[in-house]
Amino acid sequence: MGKVIVSTGRGGTGKSTFVALASKYLNSPKLLIDLDPDESLADMVGLDLSEKGGKTISSALYDVIEENKEAGRTGYNLLLDMMQSVLYKGKEFDFIALGTKFTVGCYCAPDAVLKDFIPTLVKDYRQVLVDSPAGLEHFNRKVVVDIDDLFIILDPSEKSTRHIERVRDIIREVKVSYNHLYLIGNHRFTEKTEEYLRNTGETYLGKIDYDPDVRQHNLEGRSLLDLPQDSPAALCVRNILMKAGYKLQN
Ligand SMILES: Nc1ncnc2c1ncn2[C@@H]1O[C@H](COP(=O)(O)OP(=O)(O)OP(=O)(O)O)[C@@H](O)[C@H]1O
Ligand SMILES: [Mg+2]
Repeated sequence: MGKVIVSTGRGGTGKSTFVALASKYLNSPKLLIDLDPDESLADMVGLDLSEKGGKTISSALYDVIEENKEAGRTGYNLLLDMMQSVLYKGKEFDFIALGTKFTVGCYCAPDAVLKDFIPTLVKDYRQVLVDSPAGLEHFNRKVVVDIDDLFIILDPSEKSTRHIERVRDIIREVKVSYNHLYLIGNHRFTEKTEEYLRNTGETYLGKIDYDPDVRQHNLEGRSLLDLPQDSPAALCVRNILMKAGYKLQN
């Protein structure tokens, strides 16, 4: 049974960057799941899903419904087939994206499909890394309910303090379980502002240093897996994972 790792946080704190860099060090086989309809994780790990003929859950679901409308076919077997078409299998990692929905309405259907399949998928991997969309709503959607390690990526603001409390409250209320909750400071923290992360009562694992190459790679849509060996951000993520007890491959 694989370990389920989730990154969460407010908008733009560095959640996807953390997942991409963590995937560089975590042992295979590993599955990356992008829960963000904005779909930025694939770019960050150098994957062009559409070029590889891959589909997102949202687009596959739309196709399945359209194709089977006239035949009157519905049901679980259709969804099983569909999941095969959305699981991208790569050399370094496998990948699933929830995807963007171009029709009116909530993400209930793609969420439900993914939620149903996660317990099956987890069995095939050592690590399942989930990149969340900004904010807290994804917890209410309950797509991932059994989390091993929950990493909250924070920026230095008063809102971040409240964000930690809200994560704790929502998780308790909607009954999402986790084994560990870890705090990570993003590159905007200074040594002085880091102090506040050490005094929250939660486990603080350190900050991810500013790295101009991360910014540049993201700007140009280049993979973060190609960052130089001595990338400050990548080394910080490596250190953070070791503090969290992970045995790493690099
Ligand atoms: N360590 C770092 N050094 C420099 N820039 C960084 C670092 N980490 C993230 N960034 C930059 O910050 C921006 C936001 O990063 P990222 O997309 O990982 O955040 P996010 O929390 O996933 O955002 P969203 O809420 O939109 O999903 C990006 O432009 C990225 O290049
Ligand atoms: Mg993101």
